Amino acid sequence: MFYGGDYNPEQWPEEIWKQDVALMAEAGVNLVTVGVFSWAKLEPQPGHYEFGWMDAVLDLLFDNGVFIDLATATASPPPWLAKLHPESLPVTEDGVTLWPGGRQQYCPSSPAYRNAAQLLVERIADRYGAHPGLVMWHVNNEFGCHVPACYCDTSAGAFKGWLESRYGSIDVLNEAWGTAFWSQAYGDWDEINPPRRAPTFTNPSQELDFKRFSSDALLECYSMERAIVKGATPQIPVTTNFMGFFKPVDYWKWAQHEDVVSDDSYQDPSAPESPMLSAMRWDLMRSLGSGEPWILMEQASNHVNWRRRNIGKRPGQMRAWSYQAVARGANGIMFFQWRASRGGAEKYHSAMVPHVQPESSRVWQEVKQLGNELKQLDEVLETRGQASVAVVFEWDNWWALEAPSKPAWDLRMMDQVFSYYEPLFAANVPVDFVTPTSDLSSYDVVLVPNLYLTRAGVAENFDNFVHAGGALVVSFFSGIVDERDNVYLGGYPAPLRRLLGITFEEFSAMPPDKRYRIALSDSGSCSSDQWSDPIRLEGAEAIATYEEDWLAGRPAVTMNRWGGGRSFYVGTRLDREGMSWLLEEVVGVPRPNWGFEVPSGVEIIRRSGGERVFTFLINHSDREIEVDIGPGRRNPLTESDHPPRLNLEPFEVAVLAT
Ligand code: GLA
Repeated sequence: MFYGGDYNPEQWPEEIWKQDVALMAEAGVNLVTVGVFSWAKLEPQPGHYEFGWMDAVLDLLFDNGVFIDLATATASPPPWLAKLHPESLPVTEDGVTLWPGGRQQYCPSSPAYRNAAQLLVERIADRYGAHPGLVMWHVNNEFGCHVPACYCDTSAGAFKGWLESRYGSIDVLNEAWGTAFWSQAYGDWDEINPPRRAPTFTNPSQELDFKRFSSDALLECYSMERAIVKGATPQIPVTTNFMGFFKPVDYWKWAQHEDVVSDDSYQDPSAPESPMLSAMRWDLMRSLGSGEPWILMEQASNHVNWRRRNIGKRPGQMRAWSYQAVARGANGIMFFQWRASRGGAEKYHSAMVPHVQPESSRVWQEVKQLGNELKQLDEVLETRGQASVAVVFEWDNWWALEAPSKPAWDLRMMDQVFSYYEPLFAANVPVDFVTPTSDLSSYDVVLVPNLYLTRAGVAENFDNFVHAGGALVVSFFSGIVDERDNVYLGGYPAPLRRLLGITFEEFSAMPPDKRYRIALSDSGSCSSDQWSDPIRLEGAEAIATYEEDWLAGRPAVTMNRWGGGRSFYVGTRLDREGMSWLLEEVVGVPRPNWGFEVPSGVEIIRRSGGERVFTFLINHSDREIEVDIGPGRRNPLTESDHPPRLNLEPFEVAVLAT
């Protein structure tokens, strides 16, 4: 199990480095990420490299038993690059240049940036590829976090090239973008720009392609660096740190180029929904790597510095959340950063080693305790999670759904995903994320929140899944447009119409404060809001109906028997009770058998493999909770048996091994 954090020794004199490695040993640190922001120190003048200090740092770490996740140092170019190449600076959609003084001030398509990055990475790979401490490459850092897209002239040129290879001819592009509307037809590639600030709504198909292009432009930067380090060291795994459900970057596409997926996660310690949000993003991380272990590359030991109020983690909270990551598939727990900075913009961000004497610090004690505990969990490394429920999630759809000028501006992708995920999380049902064309054959239930953009091949994939006995749940405003964001004609939801056994002729967004009462087939009721498709049955049956207004008596939720399975359509946004009714009582999502009752407030997750089964229980509540686990369950952290009845304090964790 990896344990450690971002190590930035360039911020400190050499005497401190020696204290660092001694403290690392105390805390059980075995991996640090070095060099993320070291470019200016490694190449203080263009073409003039200073590697001596890095040599000393890496040797010192390795001699003291700490392995190295070596960063390529390209995340923050030194100020000299902007001076030599002002055109390498990124520009916003309003035409504002982003200057040095922060970080990440580069245009992803800039040849000057890419060349400078390439030269640096070649030297780093050449110098350290054979270092015995090197166990992982860390390319750049959080691609796109501050500059997800650049609108400068260089980017405009690259966008045109991207479009040419996608569409081949300007006529095909005009057709795809629907430029007959508002006199937008292009006569030549050179007339096309990124969707810069315009008098009103920009063309949504152009916006969608620009999102795809921007994700690809960053991916080109990543791939260029990856090719260099892979060329030098084919056997060393390469990662770049993801940021959960980060809208600008299509992580499905990126993950294919990663040897190990890693995530940076900074949930708000004061928000009650944080454990659910973490669970969800970590299920995504595991899914991105096809179920293989991933690494929690960054988290905070206590508070961050970038919220309006930076609430700290309560005693035990960091430990509980770290175990949550392990339980959901992480084989490494890391922090930003090792030692809290004295200066700079992040000096009030917590770290593993605080500003004060470590011994006197609660946070340091917790950091130390966790690192030493995780040493006991090596057996967990080979185990994996298992899920029989999948949630369909795709970036193209997210981008298209949230482009402006829709029936409801507040139809947000993540809200819709939460509405499915939350009842499953509360019921401790394991979930994977999949794309709409993933192989679905290993799942019993597939949930499809608002697949507005339904590309070619998706309907067939869903059809096969349901035919073979699966249960598919599709929510409203799905199956509306193709991958060009052009509407499917002839009756919504065109490609999914036969499978779902329904149609509707109009959309009906609801006033913001309006709710409908819904009668459920088992004589219960719930409410709904936001949307209400006036569904017509074409083979499906209604399992919930509106009770009010002109829709009274019309179907709100339908079920269609199809082959050996069932497909459901949810034409409105059900409240929490409605979703639980649908998922648990009607669809019947399979709940794992834990072997004992799990009280509410306790999250329970399992990792297994071969003979080994590890069950993690986490009390996320602020009260003590008793769990009757029965006799004979081993605690791998103490190598003794747990008592048959656990008293889980707030944020307490129990690991059961069989
Ligand atoms: C990100 C970055 C780090 C640091 C942290 C602060 O994760 O990768 O360099 O800025 O945020 O929370």
